[in-house]
Parts: sequence; structure tokens; C-alpha cells
Amino acid sequence: MLSGGYANIDTATRIRCEKVMNTGTVLRMFSGRSRWNLQPNEFSLAIERQRSSASGVLDLTASNPTTVGFDYDEEAILSAMNNRKSLTYEPDPRGLLSAREAVVHYYNEVLPAADIDERCLILTVSTSEAYSYAFRLLCDPGDEILVAAPSYPLFEYLAEIQDVQLVSYELVYDHGWQIDFHSLRQKLTARTRAIVLVNPNNPTGSYISGQEKTELNQIAAEDNLALIVDEVFLDFALDGARHFSLFANQDALTFTLSGISKICALPQMKLSWLAVSGPAQQKREAMDRLEVIADTYLSPSAPIQHALGTLLETRAGIQTQITGRLRQNLAELDRQLAAQQLCSRLQVQGGWYAVLRVPVTQSDEQLATELVEQQSVVVHPGHFFDFHVDGYLIVSLITPEREFSEGIRRVLSFFH
Ligand SMILES: Cc1ncc(COP(=O)(O)O)c(C=O)c1O
Repeated sequence: MLSGGYANIDTATRIRCEKVMNTGTVLRMFSGRSRWNLQPNEFSLAIERQRSSASGVLDLTASNPTTVGFDYDEEAILSAMNNRKSLTYEPDPRGLLSAREAVVHYYNEVLPAADIDERCLILTVSTSEAYSYAFRLLCDPGDEILVAAPSYPLFEYLAEIQDVQLVSYELVYDHGWQIDFHSLRQKLTARTRAIVLVNPNNPTGSYISGQEKTELNQIAAEDNLALIVDEVFLDFALDGARHFSLFANQDALTFTLSGISKICALPQMKLSWLAVSGPAQQKREAMDRLEVIADTYLSPSAPIQHALGTLLETRAGIQTQITGRLRQNLAELDRQLAAQQLCSRLQVQGGWYAVLRVPVTQSDEQLATELVEQQSVVVHPGHFFDFHVDGYLIVSLITPEREFSEGIRRVLSFFH
């Protein structure tokens, strides 16, 4: 039910569910951590009803790049999978050397100053799996990981199924998003093991600043913590500025996660990685232990690993199309926002989403449900992404342009 992290509306709408009390004998067979309430909520029921009605719905939450009209280099992608080398099994816990070299080549192009070598990489099937490896490496049951709020909603589940406690620190918005270091420091306890950040963050689209990088490194060093940095959207900067990456960060033990689900817009191909950097001894110890975890699973398949170099080469074509659409939709959003005064949008530096600030007349979830019922348009309520106050809606900027324009028109006309 959760796989694919926000691959479609259903996932998105069901992802926030409450634990149900375990009373029956059958239920006692199962672990407490899997005791989810799987009943659809009001919002997802409204979407289902509206979808099967004559008017259908306009979906402004699309996050699956393979179904929104981009033009992939099909020939290159498919022929890359057709490799005789895949007929031989050559298990390597870190992933095939040729595939890790392809990742190094990618980083040499996007971050030429970064110090990277293929021995610091572990390939995984997904970023989610990479998170699991990092959580397993760092945490005993009940240990704590700090995550930003608002941020990527799948963390709650990723942590829960590894018996890790999530503790959130705040991002504050004041002419752009910033980490609230006061809130972060207050959340540190003897059980804190790592600080997670998404750079640029989903859905706020904010990159960390140089000063934030320094401060995070300081906290990690003082408290003996690791940094887990998800940079899947790193290549999708929208403001033309140079941004900071924590990839190959040397000042604290750092796990940088990325993969082809966003870099090449190929989430179905399933290949990601975890790059380890930091002080030499911590890094060596982390790699040795991670190797055992990875060896226990040996997850990524041979065909995808052999194809990786070619798939990464196709990224320029698809990234140009995606970035073009992100910019065009953002410009259209601004054009429509300029014609009214009730709603606005927050600054976006990168990534695939925009955050709308809207009048608070009810909870965001009720608002999103009304938008489905009255305007046949689907947006994410802010609380899915852990916005702690109402008045925020999230829209996907990879939505096809015409749908996006009409969808935004419907959202804005709702408030009039
Ligand atoms: C911040 C972030 N990390 C990771 C992922 C998913 O990556 P993968 O498909 O490699 O698990 C997503 C998907 O939307 C995401 O938003």
C-alpha cells in the first residue's frame, strides 16, 4: 500500500493513517508496528467518488514522471537493459563495480569538486531501502532520528518499520525556508542518532544554505551524530542559483542518498545509492558494517546495474523537459496568483512541488476534500507533509501544463 512513496493519489491520501487498537485474537498474531488503520479516509473516498463521476478529477498531485507526457529515449533505455553480462551472477554487496563507477562519473559531472570514489558507495533498489540500511546501521530499537517538518511523509513509515522513533524539528518560513536550529537543538537527547534532511526538501523546495551546512556539521560533531541527506531532487534547481550539497561532506559521518527515480525520472527501474563520507575512521567502520547489511540482501538486479551508465546518460534529455515544465507551471501559477489577492505561493528553489498559502476557513484536509467535491481538483493538504498549521496546499509542478493551468484556476476560483 505504501510502495512507490506517493506514486499516485491513493498512496498519498492513505499514507496518513492512525494506529488501531489491537483487540481481536487474530490481530494479536501481528506486530504492533503493522497495526495500521487501512480504512480509506474522507479525502480518498471523495476522490474515488469523483473519479467515477462524469466530470472526473483533475489531479494536481501527479508525482509519477512516467505517466505525465514526457518523451523518454526509449531506444536507449530498453537496449541498455539487453546486456549478455546480466546472464552471469556476480554478487557484490556494494553493487557491481561498473555501476558504482557510473555513479562516480555522474557526480564528477554534477559536483566536480566533490571527493568521491566507488568504494564509498552502496547500491540499493530504492532510496527507501537506503534509508532502511542507514537506520539499521545507526539505531537500536527506540533510538531517535530527527527529521524536518514539513518534509517527506514516508519517513514516518520508514522509521516505524525499523523500530526507530522519529522526532521532528521545525523549518520556518521567513523570506525562504530555514532550519530552526533552536528547535533542532531542543530535540536532541541521549538517544538521538542522526539528523535527516532532504536537499532540496520535498515539498518546500528549499536547499540548505552554507551556514546551515556548517551548523549541522557542528551539531553532528558535538553530539556524535550522523547526517542522512536525501538529495534525489538535487539536479532540479529552479532559481538558477548555485546551491549547497552535503554529498561527500567530510566534517561529519554523512550518508547521501540518491537514485535514478528522480535523476533519470525512472522510478520503475529501481536503482538508488547511499554514499558514505566523513572522518576516516567513522567512514571505514560504517562501510564495513553496511557491507554486511547489503550482503544480507544483495538487492539490485544485474540488468539494471549493467544499464546504469547508459540510463544516467539519458538524464540530460529528460531533465531538460522536466525543468522546462516546472518553470512553465510555476510561471502560470504566478500569473494566476497575480490576478487575485487571497492566495499566494511560498518561494521555491528546486524540486517538483509548490506550496500555496490559502485562507484558513477549515482544516486543510476538509479544504482539500471540498476542492475534490466542488471543483473536481485534487491537491495535497499541507498536513500530509507535516505542516503543523492549516492554510497550506501542495501542488505538483510536473502536472501536464494544461491540466495544471485549469486545476489552479479551479482552486483559486473556489476561494472567490
Ligand atoms: C524526498 C524523496 N526521497 C525519495 C523518494 C523516492 O525515491 P525512491 O523511488 O528511490 O525510493 C521520493 C519520492 O517521491 C522523495 O520525494
